[in-house]
Amino acid sequence: MKFFLDTANVERIRYFAEMGLVDGITTNPSLIAKEGRDFKEVISQITEIVDGPISAEVVSTEAVGMIEEARELAAIHENIVIKIPMTREGIKATHQLASKGIRVNMTLVFSPAQALLAAKAGARYVSPFIGRLDDISTDGLDMVAQIRAILDNYDFECEIIAASIRHPLHVIGVAKMGVDIATIPPDVMDKLFNHPLTDIGLERFLKDWENAFAKR
Ligand code: E4P
Repeated sequence: MKFFLDTANVERIRYFAEMGLVDGITTNPSLIAKEGRDFKEVISQITEIVDGPISAEVVSTEAVGMIEEARELAAIHENIVIKIPMTREGIKATHQLASKGIRVNMTLVFSPAQALLAAKAGARYVSPFIGRLDDISTDGLDMVAQIRAILDNYDFECEIIAASIRHPLHVIGVAKMGVDIATIPPDVMDKLFNHPLTDIGLERFLKDWENAFAKR
């Protein structure tokens, strides 16, 4: 299973990359805006930290504009993957970009049908949004399970990136399904480490050691 980090914050990327936990990065316009820095500059800096797919999203709504933006972004580095929204224009752009060897991550996917269309059009990655579906009382993990089952029936060269992950149970849920990639926000990555019994256990080991040896 691959772990992507869902952030444009280079400090947090460096922090987890040093632990060997970052296979790639996903960004979106909101995450880039949060950093308050130049889009291309941030993306370019990320490519220097992580040697893996880096998703950069287009903001055009017409296929022509998406393709133009995609070409500029893809020219930044060979690891750039173009994030395209799941719209009719997005599907058109995906088809054309894929035929030219530019990898697309189809984003804003909220149903198995949309995922199937994305794979059929040639998207290299499909990003179903779990948390945002949960937010409207629809089971996001169940959607991912259906997409997993559908893609397993065919030979599309399309990996699932479980996106809009809000807590550790989302990560464990998609891992149990054999989802290829989870893109994890840094705060959720932090939570994956935590268990109170680990902290209590370590404290006790160190205290016992101190009592037995350190005071001699
Ligand atoms: C990543 O590809 C998505 O843009 C991101 O996971 C969306 O997450 P959110 O629903 O928490 O904004």
